Amino acid sequence: MAGARPEGRAPVHVVVTGAAGGIGRAVAETFASEGGCGVDAALTLVDVDGDGLAAAAAALDAGQIRVDLASPGGPGEAVDRAWQARGGVDVLVNAAGIYPSLDMIDVHCGEDGAAEAGTQLWDRIFALNSRAPALATAALARRAVAASRPASVVNISSGAALRARPGGGPYAASKAALEMATRAAALELGPHGIRVNAVSPGFVPVASDCNPVAPEYAAAVSANPLGRPGTPEDVARAVRWIAGDEAAWITGEILRVDGGSGTGAGHLPRLWPPGPANGAANGPAPDAPGSEQAGNRGGNETEGSTV
Ligand SMILES: NC(=O)c1ccc[n+]([C@@H]2O[C@H](COP(=O)([O-])OP(=O)(O)OC[C@H]3O[C@@H](n4cnc5c(N)ncnc54)[C@H](O)[C@@H]3O)[C@@H](O)[C@H]2O)c1
Repeated sequence: MAGARPEGRAPVHVVVTGAAGGIGRAVAETFASEGGCGVDAALTLVDVDGDGLAAAAAALDAGQIRVDLASPGGPGEAVDRAWQARGGVDVLVNAAGIYPSLDMIDVHCGEDGAAEAGTQLWDRIFALNSRAPALATAALARRAVAASRPASVVNISSGAALRARPGGGPYAASKAALEMATRAAALELGPHGIRVNAVSPGFVPVASDCNPVAPEYAAAVSANPLGRPGTPEDVARAVRWIAGDEAAWITGEILRVDGGSGTGAGHLPRLWPPGPANGAANGPAPDAPGSEQAGNRGGNETEGSTV
């Protein structure tokens, strides 16, 4: 996908939802500046935030569709309008999402069975984070299959899909559902030449109005093995790569882009303090038969160190 872009070939049409936001806009900017699939990219941006959408569309010379993607008809409308505007859609990036704090205990109904605020918020999180990408993918697939055109979909998931956090349960569940929907769509649509993948970012500061994050939370989740915070551009480059021809034989993949924060629990203390007696280079491992430590430590100590 990288390299010289041949003149005269039609641009690849890229639709980005949530394009007024931090990651969505970075994705749109990356396609605008670097093209896609070896040719220039024509962009259609989708968002519910009219002002942010207009600003991004003007800056990137892109088409714009303002729609509420949490409504049942919104995702299909967005894809249909984008398809009609340019006679097809080659790449769909589903980046619109919300991550409000909602405790699991607050997801309940009143005695009359009516959904209360927590249940309504649960439904909205799922409508936007899980259902909208599925509906948009289905709308694209119906048109692409009918036209015998290949297409590539990239859903923006989250490390939360694999790791619950206090107040983040409904969001985590919605992203876990999105990841399985990604695999299921990849399975069904692969025979039609439609690839469906996801990029799963770690925490990336975006200073969003609709997705505020407490500073202490941001500080706590920013740590990662690579030692610097991620940026929306880090995520956008991975999206462009997996959407494009260099990833032509990849589908149903969930690509972590998180500075390594999802590799494990880096905040935990070491299993056993580092020192001359710990490690093969310095002699037998502490628990190896014949090592002094194996003989000197009690059973409880050993069990405790392996949790
Ligand atoms: N920033 C992070 O740390 C991070 C980490 C992992 C995953 N993500 C995911 O990345 C995606 C983008 O998030 P972001 O951090 O850039 O947030 P953001 O708030 O900057 O962007 C979200 C965008 O979605 C739009 N949106 C919200 N509700 C909508 C609706 N009903 N219809 C249409 N558009 C709507 C907003 O207007 C906004 O432009 C989300 O799916 C989020 O879950 C973000």
